[in-house]
Amino acid sequence: MAPHAIVILTGAGISAESGLATFRDPDGIWARHRIEDVATPEAWRRDPAKVTGFYNARRRQLLDPAVAPNPAHHALVRLEQAWPGDFLLVTQNVDNLHDRAGSHRLIHMHGELARVRCTSCGAEAPWLADVEPASACPACGATGSLRPAVVWFGEMPLEMERIARALTECDVFIAIGTSGAVYPAAGFVGEARAAGAHTMEVNLEPSDVRSRFHEARHGPAATLVPALVEELLAAR
Ligand code: APR
Repeated sequence: MAPHAIVILTGAGISAESGLATFRDPDGIWARHRIEDVATPEAWRRDPAKVTGFYNARRRQLLDPAVAPNPAHHALVRLEQAWPGDFLLVTQNVDNLHDRAGSHRLIHMHGELARVRCTSCGAEAPWLADVEPASACPACGATGSLRPAVVWFGEMPLEMERIARALTECDVFIAIGTSGAVYPAAGFVGEARAAGAHTMEVNLEPSDVRSRFHEARHGPAATLVPALVEELLAAR
């Protein structure tokens, strides 16, 4: 029998213990900002300075020495390296903690905070500094045209065909630290189940979509994920 294929989906909960706020918890980002003010193409057209300021503040957190990959990010690198079958990590997170931990078979379906895209020429570039009004596109030199390379509400998530293929072919699907409130990611468990995969939720508490999964583990990701990875590797 071929080794099992595994798809992992992560959300903001996996980075919570690294010091980054989630979105929908009581102290989350969407309790302090309105989505329609900072995370839509309309918001960007209406008030680019406000949107840029919101993402500058979040990007600055990535440079905070206290913000670093936690044991859950590291455990997923170990799984990627030791798992004998196909492996794909899909993250909704725009932070760079999976990358910094060393994940490679990784899709940032909602884009990346540490990159910008030029609305003038379309080029993307790595970017860890603040975006200022005078910031010039490294490719075409235009100023005032750099937007964060993240997927806003109303925009299409990235690499959806590759993700759909992996879901169709997977035997195990695990969602970690995500509330299941945002589509299309919230629909992945259904796609994986329809394809015959065993599905598991790993979250601080039962999410609103807990019943869609065969199995669930509840508690902090930095504790549960390393234990789960060892279990998966022992049973392979
Ligand atoms: N360990 C595990 N899970 C946790 C932890 C933790 N330490 N802390 C919080 N959680 C859980 C919360 O209980 C919640 O169910 O993580 C989940 C985070 O949910 P959201 O804040 O809704 O984040 P996410 O699911 O990633 O949001 C999806 O919404 O606004 C957008 O684009 C944004 O990618 C994001 C998308």
